[in-house]
Amino acid sequence: MNVLHAVIRPTPGQNPSNSSRDRVRHQKASAREALGEAASRQGINFKSLDRDEHGAPLPTDGHYWSITHSAEYVAGAAATWPLGIDIERMRTPSPEVIAEAASEGEIAMVCQRFDICEVEAFTRIWSAKEALLKLTGEGLCGLSKCTIGSMSMTDSRPGIWVRYERQEHFVHQMQRDEHIASVTCPQVQQVQWDWHGHLVGAGDR
Ligand SMILES: CC(C)(COP(=O)(O)OP(=O)(O)OC[C@H]1O[C@@H](n2cnc3c(N)ncnc32)[C@H](O)[C@@H]1OP(=O)(O)O)[C@@H](O)C(=O)NCCC(=O)NCCS
Repeated sequence: MNVLHAVIRPTPGQNPSNSSRDRVRHQKASAREALGEAASRQGINFKSLDRDEHGAPLPTDGHYWSITHSAEYVAGAAATWPLGIDIERMRTPSPEVIAEAASEGEIAMVCQRFDICEVEAFTRIWSAKEALLKLTGEGLCGLSKCTIGSMSMTDSRPGIWVRYERQEHFVHQMQRDEHIASVTCPQVQQVQWDWHGHLVGAGDR
């Protein structure tokens, strides 16, 4: 069974007295530190972390990487297959963002399936789609190609199925501290989450 290590850490240097440029610098640097930790657990050592002209991560020596950063958390994961990671804070987005990222039917389906409120359902959908679109390298331009997969595709693992170009992808998810973290990599069956020292995975819910 392939296990993926995902490392999530609180973001340092986010004091409002720091300039926004400084805060972003901290986010990017600490996301790369989380990635380094995840990669080393995966037995991967990146000599460099290169990106294409649009800022998307490029694989090195057959090793892929993905990071996400916000004012609250940073995260990273690496594998020998393409992958995507994302973390989102649960919040009510604007009607425009909701309309672009999820249909009413998708939100209702996820609410019902997991017995959760609309805000959590939307955040799960948004984060899952973002993680998948990082895997494909397309980014948000591909949003309209993603739909939530059939809820009848039951899976005991915590996560959600997302359909992209007629293929269903399982996006592993974890919720903690008002945030949803998502990671997807089709070759991986299990995710070992290290969320600030709190280890969850390999069968945990
Ligand atoms: C990629 C994208 C989904 C990232 O989402 P985000 O919430 O802004 O940022 P996150 O913190 O989750 O992730 C940022 C990281 O994603 C990675 N990334 C950037 N573009 C990426 C892509 N196309 N595919 C995969 N990963 C990408 C980078 O490593 C980036 O971190 P870095 O700049 O420090 O290297 C989003 O910025 C995007 O779609 N960009 C493409 C251009 C665009 O905005 N198009 C608009 C619609 S057409």
